[in-house]
Amino acid sequence: NEKFQNEKFRPQFHFTPSAHWMNDPNGMVYFEGEYHLFYQHHPNGTTWGPMHWGHAVSSDLVHWEHLPIALKPDHNGFIFSGSAVVDWKDSSGLFGGRPGLVAIFTHADQYPDSDRPRQRQSLAYSTDQGRSWTMYENNPVLANELYTDFRDPKVFWHEQKQHWVMVLAAGDHVQFYTSNDLKLWTFASEFGTAEGSHEGVWECPDLIELPVEGSEGECKWVLIVSIGDHPDHPEGSRTQYFIGQFDGRTFTNENAADTVLWLDHGRDNYAGVTWSDVQRPDQAKLFIGWMSNWKYCNLTPTKEWRSAMTLPRELRLRRTPSGIRVVQQPVSELQELRQQEQSRQWGGVTIRPGDNLLKDVTGDRYELICEFDVGSAEEVGFHLRTSDTEKTVVGYRAAERKLFVCRTHSGESAFHPGFACRHDARLEPLEGRIHLHLFVDHSSIEIFANHGEVAVTDQIFPDPSSVGLELYARGGEATIHRLDFHPLQSIYSY
Ligand code: FRU
Repeated sequence: NEKFQNEKFRPQFHFTPSAHWMNDPNGMVYFEGEYHLFYQHHPNGTTWGPMHWGHAVSSDLVHWEHLPIALKPDHNGFIFSGSAVVDWKDSSGLFGGRPGLVAIFTHADQYPDSDRPRQRQSLAYSTDQGRSWTMYENNPVLANELYTDFRDPKVFWHEQKQHWVMVLAAGDHVQFYTSNDLKLWTFASEFGTAEGSHEGVWECPDLIELPVEGSEGECKWVLIVSIGDHPDHPEGSRTQYFIGQFDGRTFTNENAADTVLWLDHGRDNYAGVTWSDVQRPDQAKLFIGWMSNWKYCNLTPTKEWRSAMTLPRELRLRRTPSGIRVVQQPVSELQELRQQEQSRQWGGVTIRPGDNLLKDVTGDRYELICEFDVGSAEEVGFHLRTSDTEKTVVGYRAAERKLFVCRTHSGESAFHPGFACRHDARLEPLEGRIHLHLFVDHSSIEIFANHGEVAVTDQIFPDPSSVGLELYARGGEATIHRLDFHPLQSIYSY
């Protein structure tokens, strides 16, 4: 634990592998009091390689216990992304009538006598709370001849139709399959060739039902689709979603085909999907993403490990002036990390150009909650993790109504020309006020604006000595109605 507290850039309240490479979160499932998190893992290097499923468990979504590797490559190939479910009624017949865990994932290899990639779906199961896994003897359970990209199965139980549903990426769209036993899968429908963004390859879909906040039981289905990096697009890999209906076989998009809805407006939230078998307040779904980007993930300046997950978040739907949107909020369990005795609070303060309310505050991991009225200011925001030469800017531009992040001077960035960048997202004041909820860790920032309407997730690599903090107003005066600062405890300090 002391080692993890002292390693340069090691996140102090985000999940990281203890060593070596990590990409997508996989197989998230809640079973017998434990949140399971599996992940794409290369146990022999700090860059992408032959994929395994790493494994960790948590009882609070904050502290994680690393477990041995769950799935290793076998004669069917590498273990790519996928999901896991509790087979409560032993529909698979693998558990002698008791409930057990089934992982459904992509086996990736090559067609015999050619080097054309082949991707097929397989099963593994566990009768001991995920501590050991057995490959199903008749793997793979789903193959196809048509698509080279045929992967990342996400499976859930459809209560109304009483069958399992699998959504997976197939070429330039997703496909839905159904099953009664998780072993035999029947094609149901497909979606997406002419919908949303195709600026990268479709990967890691998820399909979830979410209630609309404040409605009388109105629900919609959300289809999450990650899109891969493409050299023509500076954003790199990112995640879009669609809102509509799903009848157990077919998904219908309620928005125009060319509408693109982004789940996150930062550069580092990819391949995220939701937990299976979790009950959260008001039927929210629990989500976690990979906090990196295929554009530069193999080059980031960490040594013994590479990549972290985003904070776990709850997804809900909200009716906004632009339509129904997914909103995301960090899980409330994270509040247990607040170092209350060192927390600070301000309210009803006017700030002018040159003022810095936070001049006697420093930190390299903390949470900020801020509610302000931009007033006559052109721009209001924070300089985070500052030193004489470094700063990360999170600001709001009143005229454009845009929230932006600028990480051009945030620390190390020379590892890739696309890393040092600035990006923004439209954000309307709510009754005249902007609400920001920020998390700053050793190598990331996460912003949840207007109670989760806009999320921005970005890696940064500041020097450990860059601990300055500033709240600024430019071009006029702003009113800070509320500002809370909470230093956060390291998950490694107990
Ligand atoms: C997404 C992805 C998945 C694939 C996995 C391989 O980041 O490309 O489509 O299953 O990573 O590691």
